[in-house]
Amino acid sequence: MTVTVRETCTSLILIGLCSASRQVYDCSQQHSYTEEEHIFPRDDLVGEPVTVLVNLQQSVNQISSHFVGVTIDAALIHDKWRKLDFSSKRVQNMAKALTPSFFRLGGTSADSLTYVLYNGQNSTPPTQLGSHVPANLTAEAWETINEFTKEVGWDLIFDLNALKRNADGSWNHDNARQLLQFSADRNYTIAGFELGNEYDIYERKHNATLSPRQLAKDVMTLQTLLSQFPQYYSAFIIGPETATDNQQCFQGFLAAGGSKVVSAASFHHYYYSDEDEDVSRFTDIKTMDSFDHILDHVMDMTRSVNPQLPVWLSETSCTYDHGVANVSDRFVAGFLWLDKLGLCALNGVQTVIRQDFYGNNYSFLNPQQEPNPDFWLTVLYKRIVRGAVFNATGRHDVRVYAACANSFLLPAGSVVVYTLNPDDYPLTFDLPQFQTQPRMLWSLTGWGGDRLSKYTSLNGVKLELVNDELPDLPGKLAPPGVVTVPPYSFTFVAFYETSISICYE
Ligand SMILES: *[C@@H]1O[C@H](CO)[C@@H](O)[C@H](O)[C@H]1NC(C)=O
Ligand SMILES: *[C@@H]1O[C@H](CO)[C@@H](O)[C@H](O)[C@H]1NC(C)=O
Ligand SMILES: *[C@@H]1O[C@H](CO)[C@@H](O)[C@H](O)[C@H]1NC(C)=O
Ligand SMILES: *[C@@H]1O[C@H](CO)[C@@H](O)[C@H](O)[C@H]1NC(C)=O
Ligand SMILES: *[C@@H]1O[C@H](CO)[C@@H](O)[C@H](O)[C@H]1NC(C)=O
Ligand SMILES: *[C@@H]1O[C@H](CO)[C@@H](O)[C@H](O)[C@H]1NC(C)=O
Repeated sequence: MTVTVRETCTSLILIGLCSASRQVYDCSQQHSYTEEEHIFPRDDLVGEPVTVLVNLQQSVNQISSHFVGVTIDAALIHDKWRKLDFSSKRVQNMAKALTPSFFRLGGTSADSLTYVLYNGQNSTPPTQLGSHVPANLTAEAWETINEFTKEVGWDLIFDLNALKRNADGSWNHDNARQLLQFSADRNYTIAGFELGNEYDIYERKHNATLSPRQLAKDVMTLQTLLSQFPQYYSAFIIGPETATDNQQCFQGFLAAGGSKVVSAASFHHYYYSDEDEDVSRFTDIKTMDSFDHILDHVMDMTRSVNPQLPVWLSETSCTYDHGVANVSDRFVAGFLWLDKLGLCALNGVQTVIRQDFYGNNYSFLNPQQEPNPDFWLTVLYKRIVRGAVFNATGRHDVRVYAACANSFLLPAGSVVVYTLNPDDYPLTFDLPQFQTQPRMLWSLTGWGGDRLSKYTSLNGVKLELVNDELPDLPGKLAPPGVVTVPPYSFTFVAFYETSISICYE
């Protein structure tokens, strides 16, 4: 990137033609929308401005290009991928819109998988701990996933079958070795591995138990195994992949030697069960705060074992196990999601992997392989927010986050302040540090202002794929002064002439 290019882009931003597309400096494309809604509120409805201060002196975390990743649940292998068509251009385009990204293939079913890759394989399969529904990962399925991953540019993390056990209770890695050999023979690139999914709830899910000490030993076995394959020698391992912030299973694993092997301490999070269909919980600050408390606990537990160890939220969504029909696939799902991203960024989480790409009511794609609202929110987040994270403080009941803006999209030195408004009235922010700064705004609302809409509007324009391609996601210029955001909305405000020194790094 050269300064000249940046200057060109800045001037184009000023005339409103720069867009949040992947062709970052291709500012020539003008979008042609026909319908325009008037979502911006009337001034007389707006209450007292909330004053927000951003501590620009200090970065509290770093958002990398891989900060947000995505999963596919191993249950889909069992279901022969249901209707997910990996060869569909539309599916591939949506996947590419999330690249670069970690892609985790794992979940409860991953522990019950047998890799059946070679003819006549498995004369005596190892003991499988617990009761389970047996399923096979065939060569064909493994090929499909690896080819798709390569095609769309995702970085695969695979969850290995921890329930295969030797008589002495240790992990039996024979089948994993077969998978690695098969993959190495085909030059498959695998970025990282996990061993087992949510071992803290094995009892409930598999009628089996595994101690933190044993899992820590097993993960060391995995490290030794990987070191025998030049292709996977430098692949990382994350763990323990716990379902909850259970101290014994999370911290216990790290303290038992797990922290010396894993590249990141990983845990999962869902707010509550699918059975509660109350929509208002999706916009409730108390729901959001419940995660903040868990995050504090997880960070404390990790730091007490190893202050340097990164923390990953390696599987997460709103409610478990499948999401709430007609709620978690609607615009309203984004409140908990955007808040989770903001909290993770602020509190030092390195990577957040979203459950999931396809297959559930909270997926990025609906069963017809069309984008749900959280897909658009995630794409926009990945495009706009990148680099140092700043602490923004305002009022506790109003969520505001700040970071550097992605310098592939906006001039280096730019800052983005993002906020969610879960209320049915507009909100006004006074940002004294940016009072006179020109800014670009991306405001997402449910189509027609409906928080239960299946569709998302960007600055009042409905977002849809056009011939299976993503449209441009253009920001719009807004005048200096206070920032007013619509009811039920997510808004990213980029101040592109701020020249913040930390945002040049
Ligand atoms: C898995 O593969 C084995 C060996 O080929 C076969 O005997 C078994 O029936 C398969 N199981 C399922 C659930 O497909
Ligand atoms: C894998 O890579 C090696 C070295 O680059 C090459 O010789 C081999 O043909 C590749 N194998 C396959 C199956 O692509
Ligand atoms: C759970 O495991 C125990 C001991 O292995 C066994 O006796 C019991 O039948 C199992 N329960 C189920 C529901 O499979
Ligand atoms: C979700 O909405 C669809 C279409 O509006 C309806 O047919 C279906 O019954 C709803 N499902 C639930 C669980 O409310
Ligand atoms: C969504 O939830 C409904 C009701 O719980 C369920 O029947 C349906 O299978 C779910 N759909 C998906 C795609 O998970
Ligand atoms: C952000 O600032 C607030 C208020 O000064 C402080 O309480 C909080 O600990 C800070 N958070 C981080 C992550 O630095």
